[in-house]
Amino acid sequence: MTFTKAARQGGVLEQSVRQEEVIVMHSTIKVAVVYHSGFGHTKKQAEAVRDGAAELRGVHALLMDVTEAQQRWIDLEVCEAIIFSAPTYMGSASAEFKAFQEATSRPVLAKGFAWSGKLAASFTNSGARSGDKLSNLVQLSLFAAQHGVHWINLGLPPANNSSQGSDEERNRLGFWLGAGAQSNVDQGPDLAPTRSDLDTARFLGRRVAETAWQFARGRSISNGLDPGTISVNTLQSSFAGKDDGVAGGEAKRLLAVRMSLERFAKQPCFFQAMHMSRSMPSVVSLSLDSQGGRQMKPRINLASPNEGIEAMRAANQWAASLLDPKLVALVKVRASQINGCNFCLHMHSGEAFKHGESPTRLLLLDAWRESALFSDLERAALAWTESLTRIAETHAPDEVFEEVQRCFSQNEIIALSVAIALINAFNRLAIGARAHHPDEPQAN
Ligand SMILES: Cc1cc2nc3c(=O)[nH]c(=O)nc-3n(C[C@H](O)[C@H](O)[C@H](O)COP(=O)(O)O)c2cc1C
Repeated sequence: MTFTKAARQGGVLEQSVRQEEVIVMHSTIKVAVVYHSGFGHTKKQAEAVRDGAAELRGVHALLMDVTEAQQRWIDLEVCEAIIFSAPTYMGSASAEFKAFQEATSRPVLAKGFAWSGKLAASFTNSGARSGDKLSNLVQLSLFAAQHGVHWINLGLPPANNSSQGSDEERNRLGFWLGAGAQSNVDQGPDLAPTRSDLDTARFLGRRVAETAWQFARGRSISNGLDPGTISVNTLQSSFAGKDDGVAGGEAKRLLAVRMSLERFAKQPCFFQAMHMSRSMPSVVSLSLDSQGGRQMKPRINLASPNEGIEAMRAANQWAASLLDPKLVALVKVRASQINGCNFCLHMHSGEAFKHGESPTRLLLLDAWRESALFSDLERAALAWTESLTRIAETHAPDEVFEEVQRCFSQNEIIALSVAIALINAFNRLAIGARAHHPDEPQAN
């Protein structure tokens, strides 16, 4: 039975949301950034695009250079959107990117138009301000069209085009078709492209991710409701226009809905506040793990005496002794959200409350970047948590580490990193063991 059916039959969910509409939608989509970079400048731009896409909860952003991409056709096939990039060499895409384009003919085109219906966008970088980048973007958009892919443009007005304009502005180079960047030929990727060009790139990544999410959501609704996740219309309107948090009453109501859903789903459900776009109000959705709400049998008893787990606990205590306990709990809840660990979410949300955490902040934790409720120190710790938790994708970038360094001493950074590493280890153990949190009904 889907949640929607349960709601329509007058279940707990419907009572909690006061007979208002319930819509079901799905959780995670993938967006890939495929790039070539001879000297590292376009790579910097690609990382900014990836970071922009990854800002949206529910979007898994993949970054791959053209060599890796040619080993990952299946991963690309399941992406909702692919963002292409080549540096502009001799007025067109670099030879390596061209080789990638040609390589798509067999595993993608000949496989039966395998990318058709996806979304795509592009960005490029060159030495000169114009540098004939437009010619490259046009070629990349044609490449997308050849694959039956829908094109997403940059969506920013041209800047730096008046006496008041400056190079600090996003879209300072005035592109429409995609994002442009310019890197002085005597500067390395540590200095170029400019911050404004990287901001432009980040904007493009986020725009593609938002549009891809909307497409995926529309498709799942038009295909019939998907029981994987739920968004509740009434909650969307509660959040609309409130960028800086949720009123206490709303938070309580959200918690009540969450508890009702948990009872129905027989597993924890976490709300996320997502800012989809200016034209679309914030969406509150629920993440459910891939088990889709079914009861699971524990595989191993992690609570039985065990030296390995005891050693992990001791290391955990050491790390916690150097840090604010409320911050540690916040970090652990965030990592457990990303990993989807019901056992650890239950445990560490409880700890967070014990240390004075507010329900509103925990409800908004998924969207901390968008919320003014988190301090600079917490933001640095949360960004570091996300970087280390998603290490295979992020490789813990310098800019995230620099923020951590500004807020924490060397010893505290080690403690924080140990705490993050350990919660990731505990998440893996608990998920692998199918550990039940205390309130959860057991499967027979
Ligand atoms: C073979 C070659 C051709 C280039 N052609 C152009 C060009 O047509 N227009 C331009 O503005 N810059 C051109 N450049 C400069 C690069 O676009 C610039 O250095 C860019 O930052 C390189 O990006 P990457 O570090 O990601 O390779 C060229 C560079 C090379 C190596």
